Amino acid sequence: MKAAILYICTGKYTVFWKEFYESFEKNFLPQTEKTYFVYTDDKKLPYAERENVCIIPQKNLGWPDNTLQRFSLFVREEDRFKDYDYTFFINANFLCVKTVSEEEFLPVAEDLLVAEHASAHGKNPDDMTYDRNPKSLAYVPFGEGQYYVMGGLNGGKTQAYLDMVHKLKANVDTDTANGVVATWHDESHLNRFIIGRTDIKVLPPCFGFPEGWDLPYEATMFIRDKSRYFDVEAVKVGNFPGRIKLYLGRLKSKIAIRVRIRKLINFFKKGA
Ligand code: GAL
Repeated sequence: MKAAILYICTGKYTVFWKEFYESFEKNFLPQTEKTYFVYTDDKKLPYAERENVCIIPQKNLGWPDNTLQRFSLFVREEDRFKDYDYTFFINANFLCVKTVSEEEFLPVAEDLLVAEHASAHGKNPDDMTYDRNPKSLAYVPFGEGQYYVMGGLNGGKTQAYLDMVHKLKANVDTDTANGVVATWHDESHLNRFIIGRTDIKVLPPCFGFPEGWDLPYEATMFIRDKSRYFDVEAVKVGNFPGRIKLYLGRLKSKIAIRVRIRKLINFFKKGA
């Protein structure tokens, strides 16, 4: 069995690659021949020389395109994946911390694979964070839906997955042309797509256990907390003037807090 693993790490996200690769090599689908297709702008990525690592030069598209445009990145390179039995996309900040066997993971009767979002498990679908904007092609009306799945892990039998990726790229492109961005970007489009389909395997949320959350089950894969590795807001703002504005805003609120504390101290001093 051969599997293509699609991985995107540009800009600050390259910090996750080394441990991602090590943990997936150690624990993920031990009987399967895995090739990692790494979309990156980093010229010196660890393990780049490994036989099962294929570097795809990719410029940093910034926020939110780094996530929203991922289907278009996959379509662009699709010929590379066609010889693989399975293709999976996995988010940069995932870690595979337990052995994941072929039996438990690979869709066999089904074509595609997704994993339930940790925050949605056991919820009423009307309380799930589907896109509720009728102008978006990711729109899910109340009363529809069953699972809310994470955007960070999806895949399937290669042809079925590529068919899905084409469809989702087209939906994102239409939204963009209409000036619409779905609430949770690619994740919202994925969630719209799976509704009513019977060819999809839904993994439990232990396949995307957010680091630091208190949940009543053990992690099979961790989603590392980005804020422990870089300034997430600054990365989202992207450009230099935007970052300066962000830092000035933070400074202002720090000063405001200090002034408030001083006023409070003075109030009590006077009262005493
Ligand atoms: C958050 C997660 C987002 C998105 C959202 C959906 O926990 O960080 O990426 O998945 O849930 O409600």
